[in-house]
Amino acid sequence: MKKIIVKMKERSYPIMIGQHILPQLGEKAASLNIGTDAVVITNRLVRKLYGPYVSKAFSKRNISVKFLEVPDGEKSKSEKVAFDLIKKIACYDIHKKIFIVALGGGVIGDLAGFVASIYKRGIPLIHVPTTFLAQIDSAIGGKTAIDLPMAKNLVGAFYQPRLVLSDVATLKTLSLRQMRNGLAEAIKYGMIKDRSLFLYIEKHCQDLLSHNLQRLTYVVQSCSAIKARIVEKDERELLGLRTILNFGHTIGHGIEAASVYGSYQHGEAVALGMRVAAAISFQKGLLSAKDQQRLEALLTKAGLPQRIRKVKLSAIVATIAHDKKNISKKNRFVLVRAISSVKVVEGISLNLIRKTLQQYSC
Ligand SMILES: NC(=O)c1ccc[n+]([C@@H]2O[C@H](COP(=O)([O-])OP(=O)(O)OC[C@H]3O[C@@H](n4cnc5c(N)ncnc54)[C@H](O)[C@@H]3O)[C@@H](O)[C@H]2O)c1
Ligand SMILES: [Zn+2]
Repeated sequence: MKKIIVKMKERSYPIMIGQHILPQLGEKAASLNIGTDAVVITNRLVRKLYGPYVSKAFSKRNISVKFLEVPDGEKSKSEKVAFDLIKKIACYDIHKKIFIVALGGGVIGDLAGFVASIYKRGIPLIHVPTTFLAQIDSAIGGKTAIDLPMAKNLVGAFYQPRLVLSDVATLKTLSLRQMRNGLAEAIKYGMIKDRSLFLYIEKHCQDLLSHNLQRLTYVVQSCSAIKARIVEKDERELLGLRTILNFGHTIGHGIEAASVYGSYQHGEAVALGMRVAAAISFQKGLLSAKDQQRLEALLTKAGLPQRIRKVKLSAIVATIAHDKKNISKKNRFVLVRAISSVKVVEGISLNLIRKTLQQYSC
């Protein structure tokens, strides 16, 4: 088992990564001394697959377990679901010392993290991410959120967990589409920071998509370490260091917002966003044609979308213009200089964005 510490002084925490390590959840939680009663927030599917391992792991350490299920999908990141959970927890929380366990993908992690951050002004939280995307991205860094009708992730807090336990074997049950979704973010890490990771994904792309646990473990470890090193230096996104994690996300979020939520998965939209950001980088003379082609080829090899379909380009441009991350009304893009080297650039002309989006739409 590999251990990566996210160093944040008194709020530091370990990320444990390995295969078939779910049975060790009880002893890890017990050693943290965070409580005697686990409230596991999950959905029916993930509970059915992995709930029994979690129950057994906690009961071995005399930690009681209560499962709270929410419906599957982004719609659960809502005010109603969050407060229904909080009310259930409040009824249950009598003569107990509870802590929250987020068992599932990014939706569960964001929701359960948000609930843990506001119930009694914050109770201990453990992330047990079970999607590729959640293991390499959403479970690390302390961003929690629910959505409002006006925008995704509009309400939330920075709230660090006490432990992240990533059992790579849980990825075995993910669909191919889910694997591709996570792989898009893994390719992003290669592009922003780690050339050898990019080369590894190029070489082992098919193995990764077909759930080869050894290859997946390497990628989860590499990406987790990159994210840990970035967020520990810029926890609250105040220094601009965390910004590079948004490579492909300015356009990606635009695509997600302009399409009906659900028609593109996050990683698919980010893949298109990376293609567009790389094309803009090339047109601005920052990126060589060779490296641009290499990124394009890898995204295609990973089975990620090549063209923007059924989304109005004007709607994408409008969401970029109103992005909550914009500073002083200028848009902000993470552009690429080469594989593993990026640059944050402000004020890309809307004409260039429009022109490039046109090249990628059908
Ligand atoms: N907090 C952050 O820093 C951060 C970063 C990136 C994304 N996010 C958020 O993450 C969410 C997307 O996360 P996601 O892609 O994991 O989606 P998700 O949580 O909806 O999970 C995808 C699907 O996989 C299923 N699933 C989960 N684990 C499984 C397993 N082991 N086997 C089979 N099926 C399984 C889920 O039930 C769901 O149907 C979005 O809400 C996004 O905003 C947050
Ligand atoms: Zn992302």
